[in-house]
Amino acid sequence: MTQDEMKKMVAEAALEYVEVGTIIGVGTGSTANHFIDSLATIKHKIDGTVASSNASAERLEAHGIPVLDLNSVSELSVYIDGADEANHYLHLIKGGGGALTREKIVAACSRKFVCIADDSKLVDVLGKFPLPIEVIPMARSMVARELVRRGGQPVYREGFTTDNGNVILDVHNLEIMEPVKLEQELNDIPGIVTVGLFAKRPADVLLLGGKDGVRTLT
Ligand code: A5P
Repeated sequence: MTQDEMKKMVAEAALEYVEVGTIIGVGTGSTANHFIDSLATIKHKIDGTVASSNASAERLEAHGIPVLDLNSVSELSVYIDGADEANHYLHLIKGGGGALTREKIVAACSRKFVCIADDSKLVDVLGKFPLPIEVIPMARSMVARELVRRGGQPVYREGFTTDNGNVILDVHNLEIMEPVKLEQELNDIPGIVTVGLFAKRPADVLLLGGKDGVRTLT
């Protein structure tokens, strides 16, 4: 089974978490894209979606699935999205696709966060995948210097602008032993919009696709 087939399998398994007659949050990336395609088969059962990126909104709309403005919605029943890395506490690194800020907002509005990934994403210690950080453009160098002071190696994601008009620094060389603490500390640096660490609000359920099927971690 290829990695993409595992992503598709786990995306289909996530349909079980979609509650009839509710509005759901939908993430971004190749696994989330498989979820969107699966969601199209039961689209009549939900009242709508909130998307975590323009790309996902376009894909949902192409399937005829309603996409709502988050400001018109008070709560989402579930948020379904992929991750770049997950640990056994369901802390995540996200933002490989650059949509981390809207992903964190939509996750925060959701009663349940179901993360879907192929099993290569499960690690003991987060940080092998470079940590994406969304930064206000004028603060890029200042934030980069702060990150170097903390032992990271920030790399500017050249030619990429987020849906919010900001830039991304991908921070290499971090061994994240205390994800909640690091998320909080980095959040306090002026100029940082969002840290791609989802530890303060981790996933509630992690569905992992592997060659033996789908495993559920809670
Ligand atoms: C998007 O910004 C990311 O947070 C994605 O959720 C993450 O990169 C996972 O992507 P894939 O599903 O493509 O592996």
